[in-house]
Amino acid sequence: MDFLVGRDDLRRTRFTEADVPEPGPGEAVLELERFGLTSNNVTYAVMGDAMSYWRFFPADEGWGRIPVWGFAHVTASAHDETPAGTRVYGYFPISTHLLVRPKPADGGGFVDTTPHRVDLPAVYNAYAPAPPEPSEGDDLQVLFRPLFGTSFLIDDQLDEGGFHDSASVWLSSASSKTALSTAFLLSRREGIEVVGLTSAGRAEFVRGLGVYDRVVAYDELEEAPRERAVYVDISGDAELRGRVHRHLGDELAHDWLVGASHWDRVFADPGALPGPAPEMFFAPARFAKRLEDWGADGVQSRTAEAWGPFAEWASGWLEVERGAGPADIERLYLKLVDGEAPSDAGYVLAP
Ligand SMILES: NC(=O)c1ccc[n+]([C@@H]2O[C@H](COP(=O)([O-])OP(=O)(O)OC[C@H]3O[C@@H](n4cnc5c(N)ncnc54)[C@H](OP(=O)(O)O)[C@@H]3O)[C@@H](O)[C@H]2O)c1
Repeated sequence: MDFLVGRDDLRRTRFTEADVPEPGPGEAVLELERFGLTSNNVTYAVMGDAMSYWRFFPADEGWGRIPVWGFAHVTASAHDETPAGTRVYGYFPISTHLLVRPKPADGGGFVDTTPHRVDLPAVYNAYAPAPPEPSEGDDLQVLFRPLFGTSFLIDDQLDEGGFHDSASVWLSSASSKTALSTAFLLSRREGIEVVGLTSAGRAEFVRGLGVYDRVVAYDELEEAPRERAVYVDISGDAELRGRVHRHLGDELAHDWLVGASHWDRVFADPGALPGPAPEMFFAPARFAKRLEDWGADGVQSRTAEAWGPFAEWASGWLEVERGAGPADIERLYLKLVDGEAPSDAGYVLAP
């Protein structure tokens, strides 16, 4: 089974069925067990052409296969070092099966060297080794691992750059998992004030989580005190960006463009945009730099150390909602597209 979305209309969906692939020499077949679905996956679709996300898992003309993060195991293999039963964590289409061409990686797991993937960012082609059986922490892993990884890199880059000489960080889409993970990490730093911008209806929930020093509803932005601040934009909302630039004016120290959760506002008119030009934050690029600086073990140990307290905190408020099969996949996907997912919900699905 493959879940497909219209590349020109993300609300157009369909499911197709095909025979389970047979592995040729050097190939293996993975069966997807469970995956997380958040706005990040909708952004993969929104940026499918611009950032090549459609190229990972090709589909029929006009259709796309949205990438997700999840766990899978090998069901059939013609690759000696990746036998049936091998379990991994990685990047998948929303499909029951995926044919890969594994190349064993240092430290375990493998890289998929299927020709159409080799020139795409390496972080998406790596399949990490996973324990043979599912465990309690798997839900948090499929929901947060890529988002928390990004937050770790944002927090790290802000720190390395001395927070652009400012003592305050403003995050839009403050209720998103990426913003919440970032706010959690920033809240553990001395002398940094963390301000969350969110929709009026989500402000109370966000305040209750305790990781922001202040939470400001979008429609009250102009009443918030002006202060020197870095803007970390998770919403991608162009009109909101203009309002932040005009409100903070000279006090805006930097504008990091991270996300596009307000996907239908990305091309809105920002109006005048005084202050620094927005700079794109692309996690795979920063990750590649830290791999060079710290080595794979250094990156692994630092993120693992940060993950522990975060996972404990997140499991205190997250409500996992499970689903399986086409009807649940389509229903929860469309809720995310329409911005109707409750802020405390984590959608964990099986194909
Ligand atoms: N640059 C990178 O490398 C990188 C890495 C990871 C994630 N990201 C991006 O960060 C963003 C957040 O991802 P996530 O998975 O953390 O999201 P999430 O937890 O699913 O975020 C949900 C929140 O996003 C806003 N939202 C979602 N859909 C909306 C819609 N249709 N209309 C209006 N608001 C909507 C709402 O927040 P508010 O009401 O608070 O606005 C909502 O509470 C995504 O765009 C993702 O791609 C980027």
